[in-house]
Amino acid sequence: MNREVIVSSGKIARDLSDAEVKEIEHELTLYPDKKAVGLEALKIVQRHNGWVSDESMLAVSKYLDIALSELEGVATFFNLIYRRPVGKNVILFCDSVSCWIMGCEKIRKEINSHLGIDYGETTEDGEYTLIPVPCLGDCDKAPVMLVGEKMHRNLTVDSIKSLSSSRETQNKSGE
Ligand code: FES
Repeated sequence: MNREVIVSSGKIARDLSDAEVKEIEHELTLYPDKKAVGLEALKIVQRHNGWVSDESMLAVSKYLDIALSELEGVATFFNLIYRRPVGKNVILFCDSVSCWIMGCEKIRKEINSHLGIDYGETTEDGEYTLIPVPCLGDCDKAPVMLVGEKMHRNLTVDSIKSLSSSRETQNKSGE
């Protein structure tokens, strides 16, 4: 099937991989209509590619026959769909009320000083991207952040120092 589509911006949809199509087809069996699968399809594409490029967005739009603007709306609303390349490890940093009260701002500054990144930025070695998120649901252990699949709770300045030093050790052993 030719899934190529060109829009006015000149962007061309890429072909979805067989693995992506297979997973999207599976999701289609679980939902009553194609529109409901939009978010799941974007998550699948992100899992395979690390982020969702314009070309991937177009491919999903075409494949599911969902208007591009509608799909973009879904991606914007669900802030864990990354529309730009991200590092190997995404730090989802809670800056909601409980974490704020418990000093997340100090932790953010520590990340900034040790990893050299602020919100929306990626370390030069492509290892970490820092993204602010609303409540991660672990308020009684605030401040918290999710790195990859691991939740880091009761963060202190020392937690960030040890994250930073384990990264330096990994970098050295990879040299
Ligand atoms: S406010 Fe940070 S986990 Fe709830």
